[in-house]
Amino acid sequence: MYKIAVIPGDGIGKEVMEATLNILEALNIDFEFIFADAGDECKEKTGVALPDETIEIVKKADACLFGAAGETAADVIVRLRQEMDLFANLRPVKSYPGTKSLFDDLDFMIVRENTEGMYIGDEDYIKDESGNITGATAKRVITRDASERICEYAFKYAKENNRKKVTGIHKANVLKKTDGLFKEVFYEVAEKYKSEGIESEDFYVDATAMYLLTRPKSFDVIVTTNLFGDILSDEGAGLVGGLGLIPSANIGEERALFEPVHGSAPDIAGKDLANPTAMILSAIMMLEYLGEKEAANAIDKAILKVLSESKTVTGDLSGKSTTIEMSEAIKEKIEF
Ligand code: NAI
Ligand code: MG
Repeated sequence: MYKIAVIPGDGIGKEVMEATLNILEALNIDFEFIFADAGDECKEKTGVALPDETIEIVKKADACLFGAAGETAADVIVRLRQEMDLFANLRPVKSYPGTKSLFDDLDFMIVRENTEGMYIGDEDYIKDESGNITGATAKRVITRDASERICEYAFKYAKENNRKKVTGIHKANVLKKTDGLFKEVFYEVAEKYKSEGIESEDFYVDATAMYLLTRPKSFDVIVTTNLFGDILSDEGAGLVGGLGLIPSANIGEERALFEPVHGSAPDIAGKDLANPTAMILSAIMMLEYLGEKEAANAIDKAILKVLSESKTVTGDLSGKSTTIEMSEAIKEKIEF
């Protein structure tokens, strides 16, 4: 039996979570879903966006499903990543038929370092003698340990998932010390995996922003630092047709949290219009993490069928179905 912490959160987070649990409950797998509060509504009710009780539930679970939070998203998700040391952020870039994907047959994985880099929150103002703010600085931290851990994760992921190549992305020509170290560590790890048949290469992040548009099919697994990973993965989302389709995983040594990339979408919340695919694909990533590969594949195939037929899909995919109708259609297509 798997204990799954479920945080629906705000807005469409609740709707896509319901649509996803609808599918998980139909599987022949024993789940115990433990619901926990977090987000804007939780803050209104209890005074805090992320109660200690929620953190406790998540820590005791085998995995966590997270819908979306609203304005409190940073307090909720950044804190959860820290509390659970979820150092690897995985964002697949995969094209499905029947979507607004710019390319067919895209399938690569972006592995983003999730704990340091530009996101340590160490910013300062520069002030003149009278105390006027004349500028600001932000500190960027790259450590050997965190770089090794994320590069090792990316190469291991490549090996275990039949991927052939890992591309390290950096800006070592300008950020000589920080990204110089990241690049050095990347090739140390790459060397270990050479004999396993995993190729390696590295590019500057600016060139990569272009290559993602001009030759995205040349990528297999990308590994990069926090901020670059954040930006490139949104570019990846744009490549394959938008937020309603993009899942993500936050993985630590012992814990993991799965969430769609999108937010609470206040413009469509409460109208049953949200595309549940991103949340369902996040649940598929959770099933893979738990070792339930067969169930993961079965749902993935069902999604593929529903998207290809373009009949029972939501408005963002030019369809007329509701969130739950699309979830039902996917459920009906699952072959056990
Ligand atoms: P958003 O992702 O909520 O929405 C952006 C646009 O995409 C909207 O037009 C929305 O209708 C559409 N969209 C998003 N998901 C969709 C889906 N599943 N189906 C169909 N259309 C979808 O981002 P936005 O508008 O920047 O932020 C709204 C709120 O969400 C903010 O309060 C923000 O802080 C929060 N947020 C939370 C995140 C999280 O919990 N991880 C991530 C991003 C934003
Ligand atoms: Mg982002």
